[in-house]
Amino acid sequence: MLRDNILNMQSSEIRKKFLDFFKERGHVIVPSSSLIPDDPSVLLTTAGMQQFKPYYVGKADPMRDFGSKNTTSAQKCFRTSDIDEVGDKTHLTFFEMLGNFSFGGYWKKEAIHWAYEFIVNELGIDRERVSVTVFGGDSEVPQDKESYNIWHKEIGLPESKIKKHSRQDNFWGPTGSEGPCGPTTEIYVAPTVAEAMAGKGVEVWNLVFNEYYCRPSAGSGQVLEKLEIPGVDTGMGLERLAIMLQGKDNVFETDLFQPLISKIEEAKPGLDEKVLRVLADHLRASIFLVADGLRPSNKEAGYILRRLLRRVLVYGIKYDIHADLFSLAVESVKENFGKWYPEVKNTKEILNVLMEEKSKFEKALVLGVKEIEKYDSISAKDAFYIYETFGLPWELLKELVPEKVKNLDQNAYDEEFKKHQEISRAGLEKKFGGHGLILDTGELKAANQEELEKVTRLHTATHLMQEALRRVLGPEVHQMGSDITVERTRFDFSFSRKLTDEEVKKIEDLVNGAVQEDLPMTFVLMPLDEAKKSGALYSAKEKYPEIVKVYYAGHDLKTAFSKELCGGPHVSNTLKVGKFKISKQEAVAAGVRRIRGVVA
Ligand code: SER
Repeated sequence: MLRDNILNMQSSEIRKKFLDFFKERGHVIVPSSSLIPDDPSVLLTTAGMQQFKPYYVGKADPMRDFGSKNTTSAQKCFRTSDIDEVGDKTHLTFFEMLGNFSFGGYWKKEAIHWAYEFIVNELGIDRERVSVTVFGGDSEVPQDKESYNIWHKEIGLPESKIKKHSRQDNFWGPTGSEGPCGPTTEIYVAPTVAEAMAGKGVEVWNLVFNEYYCRPSAGSGQVLEKLEIPGVDTGMGLERLAIMLQGKDNVFETDLFQPLISKIEEAKPGLDEKVLRVLADHLRASIFLVADGLRPSNKEAGYILRRLLRRVLVYGIKYDIHADLFSLAVESVKENFGKWYPEVKNTKEILNVLMEEKSKFEKALVLGVKEIEKYDSISAKDAFYIYETFGLPWELLKELVPEKVKNLDQNAYDEEFKKHQEISRAGLEKKFGGHGLILDTGELKAANQEELEKVTRLHTATHLMQEALRRVLGPEVHQMGSDITVERTRFDFSFSRKLTDEEVKKIEDLVNGAVQEDLPMTFVLMPLDEAKKSGALYSAKEKYPEIVKVYYAGHDLKTAFSKELCGGPHVSNTLKVGKFKISKQEAVAAGVRRIRGVVA
């Protein structure tokens, strides 16, 4: 049974109570770190301990930085591991974690007593609703008897409420990378005493005792080394705790989600419960990621964000939602979380990023859907092609045309993806094995990976150079021909006289300036006439297909330094081009000049 005084404890009160409780016990309150971590071993921040990693391993001094060996925080976290479970009662991508941490300040006794005191005395949860697990031991790490005894003998939990679990459940550490790790004790709370008696409960708090440093070993196992100073790292999911304190059935009914859920429901009544939950989770998570500076892209964390946003957009189409979900979510998140996380108040910028992704997606979708119509069944290879050309990730094909991808093997798709990543550093497009060339676009030729990288850099340099030529010599400059080898780029253009030394220098400076700015080099797909209208450069001689790629060097198409119709490949960022120089100029015909350029 819930006690009256704990009904409806608001999330802001829970955060405050937690931090104050540990402050009173000698902890320094540290603000949440960004979702985009400094730590290169992880893509996104997944736990409260992450910003404190250096203190556990003795690389930084907590006394110097905090004036204490103990800290506490409410941390923004994001976990991709739970993405497929979003929609049930408790799993989320973005969530908040309340934690207390110690780097050699205290150990198991204090950590367990305080946790119990907070749950039972501070929050007023009936002790009958509480049960715990401890690490049961294995051949490598002994059973955590100390924690067991604290729970049983000091706190008085009956043996039936203390379960011993294996390494898989009660040992925490980094997956796939290295870091502090150790046995855990987990606290479960059941919604009611009756449910607790039936052995039910939700895991709300994980207490980790970092005794070791783990490294992945050559096989599939881990190597454990004893840490010099053992540390405490605890994490409690705010949303799950709110279920218990607000007497709700699931995280989406708590005050952390209700305002957003009801706005979506209002905008589109009658949505399926699961759809509603996925939308709320993904919208909220995306907004927090963008607020911390992440931008949608095709790799790493940016790709995770893109997947979230594109799923929201596909749901919008699939479920016929006409309301502007991005605007309503941005407003709702600001109202609900702005006080605690001021970065989400930056609504204009956040919305711009979301809207830009929406327009990119819509363009790609029109073309992608046409492409999909051609297939009865989509193989892993097809799916990858569709992703690469139209930007529709495989996860979205599952939503859009589930019947066409039902035979698609995810492993085979992942293989395609991997294969692509290996060769995509330069965006390999054509493979002419028989002729000894791995790339031959007519304009670019390369026989091996090294050459491919070089011609790709020269290719991007050629785009920058054409723009620079027009800026210095005037808009009468038009491309008449281009040929790129590993040594140089050769470019023919309409112009009637020799360039002066000063003009040559200006052109080189403009190109090198754009290189130094390290502009992203990407493309959008567009109908040909729209592409021409956009001001993108193109060759008058060439025949283009109806849908073309417009490659641009810059942060968006409008403000790009250069934009040009082109099949690629290009470097991902202009800095990769290196230092550019014009090496030669000559006349090829009346009114046509030829210049050569090199990169170093
Ligand atoms: N690092 C542990 C977790 O994430 C406890 O904070 O569960």
